[in-house]
Amino acid sequence: MTDIPNGLVEGRVLAKKQWTHNLFSLEVSAPIEQYVAGQFTKLGLRNEEGEWVRRAYSMVNHPNHEYGYQHLEFLIIADSDGQLSPKLNQLDSGDSVYVGKQPSGFMTIEEVPDYVRDLWMLSTGTAIGPFLSMLDDEILTSRFDNVVLVHAVRTADELVYADTIKDALSRLGSKFKFVSIVSREHHEPSLSGRIPELLLSGELQTKVGMNLQAPDSFVFMCGNPAMVKDTSSALTELGLNKHLRKKPGHFSSENYW
Ligand SMILES: Cc1cc2nc3c(=O)[nH]c(=O)nc-3n(C[C@H](O)[C@H](O)[C@H](O)COP(=O)(O)OP(=O)(O)OC[C@H]3O[C@@H](n4cnc5c(N)ncnc54)[C@H](O)[C@@H]3O)c2cc1C
Ligand SMILES: NC(=O)c1ccc[n+]([C@@H]2O[C@H](COP(=O)([O-])OP(=O)(O)OC[C@H]3O[C@@H](n4cnc5c(N)ncnc54)[C@H](OP(=O)(O)O)[C@@H]3O)[C@@H](O)[C@H]2O)c1
Repeated sequence: MTDIPNGLVEGRVLAKKQWTHNLFSLEVSAPIEQYVAGQFTKLGLRNEEGEWVRRAYSMVNHPNHEYGYQHLEFLIIADSDGQLSPKLNQLDSGDSVYVGKQPSGFMTIEEVPDYVRDLWMLSTGTAIGPFLSMLDDEILTSRFDNVVLVHAVRTADELVYADTIKDALSRLGSKFKFVSIVSREHHEPSLSGRIPELLLSGELQTKVGMNLQAPDSFVFMCGNPAMVKDTSSALTELGLNKHLRKKPGHFSSENYW
């Protein structure tokens, strides 16, 4: 095709895994530039009017995985009112999908200040993806004393990538702690409720078995912007400051919408 917009390259869907009716993972092969664990790129398709619709999606797999950085995996939820995500949910092996050539994003391990010992990664829904990519980074165990991953979802069937998390638990040993939160049904051993309240009550820290405190702890938040906002307030109440490159602090975030 000659009219692919600048910055997009043609990719090919290699595989699709359907977790629920609207939650799925796509494996895509595309000749994009090198990326760093935690980054995202764009996926794009044309709509019925022939216009290009592009959105950001984070890579779930580490760039140095066995098939290399041009074999990308994405975890996506299809919003029935959305323009692009339902179309991505209709793709299958062999289909074309257009991919941003240049990945980007600052939610990466190298952005964490040197003084940090414990990395906390707080996610809602599909935003566990970039943290799974980081979990596979060799530097993680030498760089941090502890790595905590929290995944908050509405229902237990959205607790995806259980095998990947199990692998990380055996690979990283006691340095790695995983806590799931299910908010709309009872599920053992998940916590119930929401991240900010569970932090303020201390229930989350108790479940992890660690304190969350400056300057040792650094928190990455990713996903629902309301979670990011409310959790930022909770962390401020707990004595942590927003991290800026100019003024190093203790938490930083990526909003998915
Ligand atoms: C940096 C970045 C990385 C992202 N990575 C991912 C990813 O890995 N997987 C993914 O599924 N989405 C991701 N998103 C969201 C994605 O870019 C799209 O916004 C989403 O797929 C909706 O696109 P759409 O065209 O279907 O909906 P639109 O027509 O653009 O409608 C947008 C509406 O969808 C909702 N929404 C958007 N994203 C999400 C989401 N992830 N979960 C719940 N509700 C959402 C919001 O209510 C929003 O109002 C990311 C966004 C950003 C900014
Ligand atoms: N997941 C589904 O079954 C479903 C079904 C239909 C449509 N959708 C659409 O798909 C999109 C994504 O849904 P999603 O379930 O992946 O993401 P989501 O709505 O962001 O929910 C994920 C988790 O984030 C929590 N959360 C929401 N607001 C929060 C806040 N202010 N502070 C802390 N935590 C907060 C939710 O708790 P609460 O449960 O307490 O809100 C839930 O545990 C949405 O646009 C939705 O409309 C999803």
